[in-house]
Order: sequence, then structure tokens, then C-alpha cells
Amino acid sequence: MIEPDAETGAQRWTLRTAATSYTVAVPGHGRWAELSAWGPAGVEDGPSPLAGHGRTPFRTAADAAPAEYLPFGLRPFGGAELDVRRPGGERGSWWSFTGERPAEAGALRLGFTDELLGLEAVLCYETVPGTDVIRRWVELANTGDGELLLRRLDSAAVNVPVPGGARLTYLVGQWAQEFQRKQVEIERGGFGIGSTQGVPGHDYAPWFAVQDAAAADGPTTPTWGASLAWSGSWHLDAQVDAGRLLRLRAGREPHEGEVLLPAGNTLTTPQLLVAFSPEGLDGLARVWHAYERTESRPRSLRPRPVLYNSWEATGFDVDQDSQLELAGVAASIGAELFVVDDGWFTGRVDDTAGLGDWYPDPAEFPDGFGAFVDKVRGLGLEFGLWVEPESVSPGSRLLTEHPDWVYAIEGRPATLIRGQLALDLGREDVCEFVLSMLDRLLCDYPIGYLKWDMNRPPTEQGRPGDPLPRAVDLDAGHVANYYRVLDALRSQHPHVLIEGCAGGGGRADAAAVARTDVVWPSDNTGPQDRLAIQYGFLHAHSPHVMSSWVTDHTGFFDTRPRSLRFRFVTAMAGALGIGADIRAWTPEQRAEAAEWIAWYKQRRETLHQGEVHLIGGPQDDTCGVQYSAPDGSHEIVLAWNSGRLAGLPLLPGRPDRLRLRGLDPAARYRNESTGEEFGGAHLLHAGLPCPWSAENDADAVVLRRC
Ligand code: GLA
Repeated sequence: MIEPDAETGAQRWTLRTAATSYTVAVPGHGRWAELSAWGPAGVEDGPSPLAGHGRTPFRTAADAAPAEYLPFGLRPFGGAELDVRRPGGERGSWWSFTGERPAEAGALRLGFTDELLGLEAVLCYETVPGTDVIRRWVELANTGDGELLLRRLDSAAVNVPVPGGARLTYLVGQWAQEFQRKQVEIERGGFGIGSTQGVPGHDYAPWFAVQDAAAADGPTTPTWGASLAWSGSWHLDAQVDAGRLLRLRAGREPHEGEVLLPAGNTLTTPQLLVAFSPEGLDGLARVWHAYERTESRPRSLRPRPVLYNSWEATGFDVDQDSQLELAGVAASIGAELFVVDDGWFTGRVDDTAGLGDWYPDPAEFPDGFGAFVDKVRGLGLEFGLWVEPESVSPGSRLLTEHPDWVYAIEGRPATLIRGQLALDLGREDVCEFVLSMLDRLLCDYPIGYLKWDMNRPPTEQGRPGDPLPRAVDLDAGHVANYYRVLDALRSQHPHVLIEGCAGGGGRADAAAVARTDVVWPSDNTGPQDRLAIQYGFLHAHSPHVMSSWVTDHTGFFDTRPRSLRFRFVTAMAGALGIGADIRAWTPEQRAEAAEWIAWYKQRRETLHQGEVHLIGGPQDDTCGVQYSAPDGSHEIVLAWNSGRLAGLPLLPGRPDRLRLRGLDPAARYRNESTGEEFGGAHLLHAGLPCPWSAENDADAVVLRRC
């Protein structure tokens, strides 16, 4: 695998993905590995486009290098990925290359050692067959006899040449407004996003895309991306330097203090997933979709059931009769799964009480919860339940019995968020409690679906009695046990589908998504707001993981009313669910719902496994998502009218148009419901007609290849 480079004495390795290549070199001096080329397969065949960027007399060679990972010390000015010291010692490492380590096919491991400090680092790379994603992480080993303190411990650095400056695309939000797609252009300087909340958070997704700003953002623009697979605190920093090189550094955020690495111990950073697409942000989205489908196979292939969730209909007022009435209507319109959300357990009268005491409330289920579940299942529905295992309410039996199980700092008051406290899941006993509590529920009742929520980021993150500083390790311990419980659920109860949720989309990073079957992107189910949330979400995640409900809700931000049709077409863009109070729906509404649900069931395989094109966005008058069947037999186009009109009012015979993508221009396509036929070139260049009206504000079209 080593190709000696005659001129510089560099060693070079090329990682090959489905359609891209990634070449890493270690120069003859052996102080770092650097990126030599990254793009479509074959891009490495020629002089490196990254060589010599940003070399000036006032910077070190390490500062200018497109280095893959550098410690502070070796890289003094330009930003380092690792900042390490011995207690009382100088900061920094000056390591050197100690050779390629054994690795599986398609993987690469490069070792660096600092003997003086007693530190070994292995830069790890792994391709994922059938995708264009490369996983990158670092393994650190303390080979000395005392502790090491890590102030920064990133997963990787990513370099992209941006001669015209960088156009960064990122997903920003807040509670109820997650995944808003934003762009910023940076000619020089920095940009950073992250979370210190112990979860990825609502403010930013740990996801990022980069293009050279000199090229317009379109479906053929080369686009590089990164996604951090970590469900705790994180950061992602980008810097465009004098050499017009964008350098992205991402990893865990040691928010509470330095991380301890005891003598003889090793630490593995989270994985940073990196990807390239020559087909713009739309193409990059397809790379992430393919990755998520591959990673979670065979679970990703399981049809997502059409669910009914009663949260928006009954809130905390959960009782047997109301739930059975809802379940009856849900079954009659074609739902396949009934999920009882918050409010089913003892003491849960509102959001201030009950968490931790995970027993069904006998007052609300007088015939017994088992009998209730059986009745739901007797309607032909699977049964699902909401839980929030990491939280506990003041006054609960759990907290009374185990006051030491919550995060706390001795002598300091506890902060309440949503009236609750956070359990220290990193503790062995707390983790055992969560494992056995979930196991008990899943064994006691025939549950097929679990919605795991988390509405309260940890504060006062200490563990009384344990030596400080511990907080950062607590963050990692919490995340590790969150994964451990999910992994145990998946292996011990493989039939149970899991929905990830954190007050909406507060924990939807790549690692959480890999361990859940769907995620709840937002509590905002208002139609226009949801469209914007889903549009951003689909840039980073596949439709098969996007849980979406049809509700009666107005938006939080855009309250314009839209039709039931619009709401169904929007929710069908991912895993369809219903969250409205369907008891109040008219027979006509129920009949329309039944039609949409039947339509969706027949086509969900294409919606979840097809190649996606994101056409336009919610800022446009008309936007759509096109799903191409893997066998090329048909296309499904979901299209929406934002309610705005461009120029003249739309007249019959002058409909708005949606230009489709990825079709064969020479083929003909027939609209399955109207019989109308179009040439591929027409759909690509003139576009699919969208005859909008007040009633027809969204459409779902199947185009069969003739
Ligand atoms: C969070 C979730 C909601 C719902 C409520 C229940 O806000 O995001 O979907 O489950 O909790 O309390």
C-alpha cells in the first residue's frame, strides 16, 4: 500500500469509496499526515491540489499544512486538534510518525508517538462499502506513568481547498424550529457551531457542508461534508486561512474541564464521518442517506409502520377510554401502530411529576394495563410506549429511594429544567436500573415500539463523593451508557422499533440515528414549519428515519392554514404518522386520511429506500422531493406550494413547474393517476406541471417509466 514519493520521501495511501478517493500522505519528515487529494475517484492522479497552500515566512510549515491531525506544540498558531499535557507540565506534543499499523481492507491506521510525553496516537480511517463515506477517529494511549490531561481531543481535521472562499451550509435551530438550512460565505476567518448541553442540542446539528464559493450552489457543484457521530457535547470549527484552505476541526467538547487519561489507558474519540459528492448538496444528502441505510441494515429495510401517537390529542390526560377511542379510529383509517406518549405512568399528572416511576397508573387503567394493551392489539394495531429513562421528577419514589443517582454538586442548588432532574446514566447502578426497567416493560407487555425521549440536559454535572475534575468523563460515561442501553435493547428485543427524541430533534446525530430506527425531528408539526424542518433534516438524514405526523396544529412560526392533503403529503416524505385528535375528524376527513394511508403503504418502500432529490426549498413558491425507485421503474414526486405566487396569478393552463432530476431524457413517464405522459427531457427541462389552487396546495405524483 505504501507508494514512496521520490521527491519528498513521502509515503502515500489512497482510500477508495464507491465513487470517490481520499489520499493521505506522510511527508518525509514524519511529523504529520496530510491530505493529498479528495474527490471523485482518480482525483489523486496528478500533483496534489493542496500542496503549498498558505506557506508564508511568518508561519510554521505545520500551520500551513493540510494536516489530518496535529497536536498543539507541533502546530503552534493555526489551531490544533489535540491539546495535551502532564499535570504541572508544559502543554503540547511534538510527536513523529512510527509507521502504518495493521488494518482491515479498506481501512488505514497511522501511528504517531511522543516518547517524551508518553503518548501514542493512531489516526484511523475506515471506508464503508457501497457508500462514499469515510469514518475517521483517533485512538490515544497514555504510555507514561502519570495522568495526561486533554484540553482538546478532536476526532479529525478536514481540509478543503476553496480558492474562491468557502460557502458553508449548516443546520441551525432552536426548540420547535430545528434543522433550518442556512448558508454563509467566508473569504477569510472562522466559524463555529456546537453544543455544551450533553446532547447535540436543538441549536445546531453536528453536520456541515463545504463548497468553493466561486462555484454557484447547484446540483453539479463539488461538495464536501462532515457529520460527527457523537451524542454528547461537541464542537465543529471551520477556518479559512491565508492559503484559501478551509480547515474543519470537530470532536467532543470538553466543556466542564480537561479530560483525564490515566497511565496505561487508552481513549477513542467519536467518529467524524466525511463525505464528498460531485452533485451538490442534493448529492451529498444521497451519500448520507445511503450511509444510514447501509449502516443499519437489515433494520433500515423494515417497513416503518404507520403510527398513531396520542400526545397532541390527549396530552397528560391519558386514560384507558380516551386511548381506546383514539385507537379505534386510528385502526379504522389504516394505522398499524398505536403509541401512548407521556402521561401513562403513576403520578404523571403534568410535567412536574412522575418521571422515574415507570409503572402504568392503575387509576387510569382500571382493568389493568395488560388488558388495555391487548384491546389495542385486538384492533389490529401494534402497541408502542413513550419513556424518558434519563430523567427523574422531584417527589418521585425513585428519587426518594436514590437521591444520589442524579447529577449534583455538593452544597450547590439543583437547577430544574421542565420541572425535572437528570440521572447520572454513567453510573453502573443507574444504567442497570434503566436496562432492567425497560426490559421489564418490554417483557411484561407486548410492546413493539419505544419512543425514547430526553427533555432535560444535565446541569451541575458532578458526582458527589467522586474526586473532581470528573465532569467531562461524566459526559462521555453518560453517552457510552446511552449507547449501551440502546444496543442491549436492539439485541435483546430485536423486534422493537425505537424512536429517538429529545424534546423534538435535540439528539439526532449520526451515532444516535445508527442506534434508533426513526427520530422525531421536532415538536413543531405545523405544516409550513414542518416543511422547512424536514427540508433541512433530509440534507443530513434519510427519509426512512424521519418520523412525521399529520396533526391539527398550526405552526409555531408560520401559522398559515394548509389543507389535510398538504399535511399528508408532508408527513409522507418520511415515516408517516398521525398525531391529530382524530376523534373530532369528520367522516370526510377520515375517508381522505384512509386514502392517503393506503396510498403511502403501497409506496413506502420507494419513499424510504429510493434515491432522493431535494428540488427547491420552502423559500420557493413550489418545492418538491423526488424519490427514484431503486430499480428505475418509477419516480414519486411530492410537491408543495408555499402559498406564495411568483408574478402573475396562476391560471389554469399555466401551472407552476417543478424541474425533476436524474431521469432518462429519452424515456417516457406516465402519471399513474391521470394517465398523462411526459418525455424525460420535458420533465427535466420544462418540469412537472403543478396546478396549484386553494384546495390543491400539495401533490403526490407517481411517474411510471413507460
Ligand atoms: C417532548 C417530545 C414530545 C412529547 C413530549 C411529552 O417534548 O418531543 O413529542 O413526547 O415530550 O412530554
